[in-house]
Amino acid sequence: MTITQDPSAPLVTVVGATGVQGGSVVRALAQSDKPYHVRGLTRDAAKPAAQELVKLGVEVFAVSLVVVNKDQVYQAFSGANFAFLVTNFWEHVDVNREIAEGKLLIDAAKAGGVSGVVWSGLPSFTKISGGKYPHVWHFDGKAAVTEYGLQAGVPFVDVQAGGYGTNFLTPPFAPIKQADGTFVLAWPVGPATAFPFIDAAPDYGMFVRHALELPVFPNGQTFVAYSEIITAKDLALQWSEETGKKIALAQIPAEQFKKGLESAGLPPHVVLDLLEVFLVWDEFGWQVPPIVQGLPRHPNTWIDFIKNTDFSKVLA
Ligand SMILES: NC(=O)c1ccc[n+]([C@@H]2O[C@H](COP(=O)([O-])OP(=O)(O)OC[C@H]3O[C@@H](n4cnc5c(N)ncnc54)[C@H](OP(=O)(O)O)[C@@H]3O)[C@@H](O)[C@H]2O)c1
Repeated sequence: MTITQDPSAPLVTVVGATGVQGGSVVRALAQSDKPYHVRGLTRDAAKPAAQELVKLGVEVFAVSLVVVNKDQVYQAFSGANFAFLVTNFWEHVDVNREIAEGKLLIDAAKAGGVSGVVWSGLPSFTKISGGKYPHVWHFDGKAAVTEYGLQAGVPFVDVQAGGYGTNFLTPPFAPIKQADGTFVLAWPVGPATAFPFIDAAPDYGMFVRHALELPVFPNGQTFVAYSEIITAKDLALQWSEETGKKIALAQIPAEQFKKGLESAGLPPHVVLDLLEVFLVWDEFGWQVPPIVQGLPRHPNTWIDFIKNTDFSKVLA
């Protein structure tokens, strides 16, 4: 089934349609055996990613989803049956802005008359760590939006994304080349530290579609989109085995990792945010529910991701 313009098909407004998560949602809806009318939001309808959406049959709607633009934001959800919502913390690294924009999206979707909101949240790492690590803003801000959404008086489901495979292509996650030509993952975590893995671009949308197509909208539930829980040790091992390069985990002290982030020129609050992500993983773990059943196929594992990815620059 392709995306349709038929007004009798459910209209899904997709935030971030030109990006990883929203783009994945659009493609998953296009692959469904059910018809959907999709309104994809972007600030720039002329950009190539937006033009690709047009080719798929998406109604591209240009809007900047910021608080001062409330009227246009509300228009973007007018008449929609469902909404997919995501915020991009990394574009501005401002937790208050992420929370304000997340709440605005929920209010706008509700006012547009949707019968279900799918929100891309994350758990509070302050809560998971019992208050020990309160600076993981890009998780905690999304958790605050989730709290708001659950009380907003509109059917609301949280579909959280696990850690993307593409994270490992750039610092501070990427391998660092050593003088002897081998590589190390210089992270402040032990080998047993584990996280939920997702190959987000091809797979995240499957989970959102699953939530939308359940017989009853899963109001109030949390799903986590991932294919496997992988340890830091196995991540390095499988990466080595598949690429033939020697890649090893080298657990470094938190202070050394922090200095590395500082010397990369990151603002102090972002340094703390990234440092504490690793410390929470290591000390408390990122607990997730069992993998979602009933998907069209098993989502890509880390080995699948390695096989499908060009590491020529990362492992040069
Ligand atoms: N990396 C990970 O492992 C991971 C895991 C879980 C969650 N996350 C979260 O995922 C989020 C990012 O999602 P993504 O990976 O899909 O990002 P992305 O690929 O960078 O795409 C961001 C999307 O948001 C849109 N956007 C941003 N600001 C906008 C605005 N003011 N108005 C309208 N559209 C706007 C962009 O549209 P245009 O540019 O076309 O306007 C683009 O489509 C982050 O908050 C991050 O914390 C990441």
